[in-house]
Amino acid sequence: MTSVRDALRTRFSCRRFLHKPVPRDTIEGILATAQLTPSWCNTQPWEIILLSGAEADRLREQLHAHAKSGARAEPDFEFPPQYADVYRDRRKVCGVQLYQSLGIGKEDRAAAAEQALENFRFFEAPHVLFITTPQSLGVYGAIDCGLYVSSFILAARECGVDTIAQAALASYPDWLREYFQLPAERKFVCGIAFGYADARHPVNSYRTGRANIGDVVDWRG
Ligand SMILES: Cc1cc2nc3c(=O)[nH]c(=O)nc-3n(C[C@H](O)[C@H](O)[C@H](O)COP(=O)(O)O)c2cc1C
Repeated sequence: MTSVRDALRTRFSCRRFLHKPVPRDTIEGILATAQLTPSWCNTQPWEIILLSGAEADRLREQLHAHAKSGARAEPDFEFPPQYADVYRDRRKVCGVQLYQSLGIGKEDRAAAAEQALENFRFFEAPHVLFITTPQSLGVYGAIDCGLYVSSFILAARECGVDTIAQAALASYPDWLREYFQLPAERKFVCGIAFGYADARHPVNSYRTGRANIGDVVDWRG
């Protein structure tokens, strides 16, 4: 039995997956655990669209082409317009780690852009899911979905399944609503690609750090 601590310590954002599907009953087990996520007033606002096999491949191809065409990102929940101070520093470190692992130099914008587009191919994952919330529940619906993301990621880890949360997959919600035939009031929070990590790929070779507790907790009393 994996402890929550072990799941958190051993998980990482996987950016290259093996072409090996996760058995259906394992996915169902992960979903059942994630479904235990608490939410405000127990509204459970998350509605999930989960794609595998040919359905995942069809979307992978079309979404990648859409992103590559230069379509403007217009997410339902605004992406940060910029990162300042410590957030800029942390973001920079994680970007440097990613590009160094792939041997992409600072000036090589074309290679960096190509790598960013891999988001829309779900990093070759055999499965991807999209998390939506009703507009009526506003920011707290999105918070509940964030908790669901965490539960899913940890439940997957417990089953030896690797994941990556992807805000990038919420870049084109109008396009996705049309693709999935969803009403305007279903808002896209993010996606999660999952499967089994290609452990030999350099993009999966590094681990990100975390701030010290003292940097984030203001103890009073
Ligand atoms: C809500 C959320 C959205 C994210 N979106 C993306 C994304 O679109 N593309 C990506 O490559 N990584 C994405 N990540 C992964 C983060 O970059 C990663 O979690 C962070 O750098 C810490 O590294 P770790 O997950 O390996 O511990 C996202 C993570 C979270 C929690």
